[in-house]
Amino acid sequence: MECMTLLPFVEWLASTRGSIALHESLYMYPLIESLHVLTLMLFAGTTALLDFRLLGLGLRKVPLSDITAKLLPWMFTGFAIMVTSGALLFYAIPVRSYQNVFFRAKVILLLLAGLNAWLFHAGIYRSVERWNHDEVLPRRARMAGLLSLVLWALIITSGRMIAYNWFDCDVTTKPTILWLAGCTERNSHP
Ligand code: HEM
Repeated sequence: MECMTLLPFVEWLASTRGSIALHESLYMYPLIESLHVLTLMLFAGTTALLDFRLLGLGLRKVPLSDITAKLLPWMFTGFAIMVTSGALLFYAIPVRSYQNVFFRAKVILLLLAGLNAWLFHAGIYRSVERWNHDEVLPRRARMAGLLSLVLWALIITSGRMIAYNWFDCDVTTKPTILWLAGCTERNSHP
C-alpha cells in the first residue's frame, strides 16, 4: 500500500474536538457545503466568462485586459471561499475524504488548474498589449482557456462524486482502487 502516507495525520485530525463537533453538527456541515456549492456560481461563472473570451466564444469586442481587470477580483474572492469551505468539509470527514479516489483526483486537478493559470499569466499574458483587442487570440491563450474549462469541469464533477461511496475502502475490492485510495488492511473490505 502507500509508502508516503498522511493517514496518521488525518486520523489525528479526525480525533480533534473541532473535527468531531463539525462532523456531528446538525446544521454547520450542510451550511458549509451549501456555501461551497453556492460560491461555485461566483468562481466557476467568472472563470468560464474569461475562458470563453480566451477561446473567442464570447465578449469578442471587449479587450481582454478589461475583462481580467473586472473579473479577477470576483474570481479570487470566490476561490478563497471555495478553498476555505472545502478545507472545512475535509476537516469534518478527514479520513474518508483522504481515502476517497474522487477527492484525490480533485486535488491533482486543482494543482493542474493552478499550474495552467500560472503559466498563462507568467507567459503569454505578459504580451497582452500586443493582442488585447484581437477577436481571435494567440494559440497559447486559446489553449489556456480550453484547458481551464476542461480542468474546472473535471474538478466540479470529481467534487460531486466525493459523496458517493462506490469506491470507499470498506466497499470496493478492486486492488487498483484500493491502492489509488491509499486504503490500509485495517479499513479495507474483508
Ligand atoms: C475552487 C476550487 C473548488 C471547487 C470548484 C470545488 C467544487 C466542489 C463541488 C462541485 C463539490 C460537490 C458539492 C455537492 O454537490 O455536494 C465539492 C465537494 C467537496 N469539496 Fe470541493 N471544490 C473546490 C475546492 C475544494 C478544496 C480546496 C477542498 C479541500 C481541501 C474541497 C473539499 C471538498 C469536499 C470534502 C467535498 C465533499 C463534500 C460532501 O460530499 O460531503 N473542495 N467541491
